Amino acid sequence: MIHTLEWTDSGVVFIDQTKLPTEETYVTCTTHQQVADVIRNMVVRGAPAIGVAAAMGVALGVKNSKADNCVLLQNEFNQICGTIRQTRPTAVNLFWAIRRMQEKFERLRDGRECGPHAIEQIKRALVEEAQRMHAEDIAANQAMGRHGATLMPASGGVLTHCNAGALATAGYGTALGVIRAAVEQGKKIHVYADETRPFLQGSRLTAWELMKDGIPTTVISDNMAGAMMKQGKIGAIVVGADRIAANGDVANKIGTYTVAVLAKEHGIPFYVAAPISTVDLETADGSGIPIEQRNSREVTHIAGKQMVPDGVEVENPAFDVTPAKYVAAIITERGVARAPYERSLRELAEKAA
Ligand code: MRU
Repeated sequence: MIHTLEWTDSGVVFIDQTKLPTEETYVTCTTHQQVADVIRNMVVRGAPAIGVAAAMGVALGVKNSKADNCVLLQNEFNQICGTIRQTRPTAVNLFWAIRRMQEKFERLRDGRECGPHAIEQIKRALVEEAQRMHAEDIAANQAMGRHGATLMPASGGVLTHCNAGALATAGYGTALGVIRAAVEQGKKIHVYADETRPFLQGSRLTAWELMKDGIPTTVISDNMAGAMMKQGKIGAIVVGADRIAANGDVANKIGTYTVAVLAKEHGIPFYVAAPISTVDLETADGSGIPIEQRNSREVTHIAGKQMVPDGVEVENPAFDVTPAKYVAAIITERGVARAPYERSLRELAEKAA
């Protein structure tokens, strides 16, 4: 069992994903500012994990508050949410989680002028809410796995991009959850993991967690994916998502779009696995999804060694948008959505959990 993040009595504990695969070390955050830092620095990453981390960060901030009345606590609460909101812009799970904590806080406060006793109750309830979100995420991934496993081939290669596994969630994974469930059903799957430049989530993280599970895995550099498809080695593709617009356009790790276009050319189904919390019905299509631009050093340096001459211009968008027309199906915990996604995603979002 991989413990991506956990609420403990001494703080929120994260496996340090910047150190994998060579070191398995853990970071303990005791303040919400520290949680914001680990999200920004990618100690924790992956949309669902970022969401749960954000909820735990809010709970931690409130727990640390010295406010003795609800007006002061409300002010602090808003600042805590503001700090965490500023970390990474693309994964909608971050904003979804903060909103859920805000709604919980408002319900608990219920417009009251409360004192120390009520504040203690609010603190406890917010911690419980964040822990509930952790448990719900694992359950959602397992349900997604059950829905998606039937779409996987009985045997052969399945390609994935980035890391949409246990490390990107509270546990089990979205895309890797689908693969895990298919393997649990007896399917003989061999995973092809794109290394995923520049941050190498595929080679460092996907390969690490699949190795731990004994699922056969081959790491390829990103530019090999097309050749593998042409050689007939890939029967299906499954990736995660950071935000899915109402029309089914999918923002995911940079390079996903390239994989989807290649899949179309080779007649290979391209699946997206994501919880309903990743579906953003307020954003009509992919053009409205904010794309995080990260530090150019992630491109210019590999493991601290400079690979690009000084002064050369560099781009580093962390995500791209795959138009819905390339997506064969979107696998959620509530079922599988197919085109037209405007209708199918809305139906799933409105379906009782
Ligand atoms: O920059 P990252 O590592 O946070 O990006 C992660 C991805 O793009 C994942 O594919 C996505 O969040 C889905 S994780 C279940």
